[in-house]
Amino acid sequence: MAKRLLVMGAGGHGRAVADLAAECGWTVAGFTDRVTGASILGRDEDLTALAAAGAMDAAVVGVGNAALDRRAALFQLLKASGIVVATLVHPRAVLSRSCRLGEGVVVFAGGVLGSSVEVGDNAVVYSGVIAEHDGRIGAHAYLSPGVVLCGGVTIEAGAFLGARATVLPNLTVGKEAEVAAGAVVISDVPAGETVMGVPARPRGGR
Ligand SMILES: CC(C)(COP(=O)(O)OP(=O)(O)OC[C@H]1O[C@@H](n2cnc3c(N)ncnc32)[C@H](O)[C@@H]1OP(=O)(O)O)[C@@H](O)C(=O)NCCC(=O)NCCS
Repeated sequence: MAKRLLVMGAGGHGRAVADLAAECGWTVAGFTDRVTGASILGRDEDLTALAAAGAMDAAVVGVGNAALDRRAALFQLLKASGIVVATLVHPRAVLSRSCRLGEGVVVFAGGVLGSSVEVGDNAVVYSGVIAEHDGRIGAHAYLSPGVVLCGGVTIEAGAFLGARATVLPNLTVGKEAEVAAGAVVISDVPAGETVMGVPARPRGGR
C-alpha cells in the first residue's frame, strides 16, 4: 500500500507538491495550513497530534515563495516533531548519480542536477531548473522554474531565484538574497540583496 504523505501548506505550491508526491508513488493524506478547508486536516501546529493519531507516514513542506520566511520555520517544526520528512524527485527529473539531496528537498519535472551537485534540506528545485556540476544549493533555497546555475555556483541558505534567472559559473548568491525573474547574475550577490536585470544590478541601482 502506498505510504501516506501530509503536505504543510495548501496553496498553489502545496498542491503542486501534492501532485509531485502522487507522481512519486505517495498517497496524499491531506494538508495542514493556517486556514481550514477541504482536505485540510488541521493547522500546522497540529502536526504532532496528527502524527500521534496515525494520520500520515511522512510529511513535507508545501509553502511556496509567497511566504519564504515560513519555509524554514515549518521545516524546523517538522524535524522537532520527529516525523519522517519526505524527499520528492519527479520520475522525469534527471539527477547525476553523484549529486546529494538533503531531507525534504522537492525536485519537479524536468529538473536537471549535474555531477556532484549538493542540495540542502528543504530546498525547492522547480520544473526545468538546470543546476550544473559542483553546484551547492543551500537549505530552504527556492529555485523557480527554468533557473540555470552554471558549474560551481553556490546558492546560500534561504535565497530565492525567480523564473529563468541565470547565474554564471563559480558565483555565489548570498543567504536570503533575491534574484529577479530573468536576471543574469555576473558577480556575487551579497546576503539579503535583491538584484534584477541583465546584467543583474542591485535593486534601485539600475
Ligand atoms: C524581484 C521581485 C521579487 C520584485 O518584486 P516587487 O518587490 O513586487 O517589485 P515590483 O513589481 O514592485 O517592481 C519594482 C521595480 O522593479 C522592476 N522589476 C520587477 N521585476 C523585475 C524583473 N524580473 N526584472 C527587471 N526588473 C524588474 C519593476 O519594473 C519596477 O521598476 P520601477 O521601480 O522602475 O518601476 C519580482 O519582480 C520577481 O522577479 N519575482 C519573481 C517571480 C517568480 O519568478 N516567481 C516564480 C514562482 S514559481
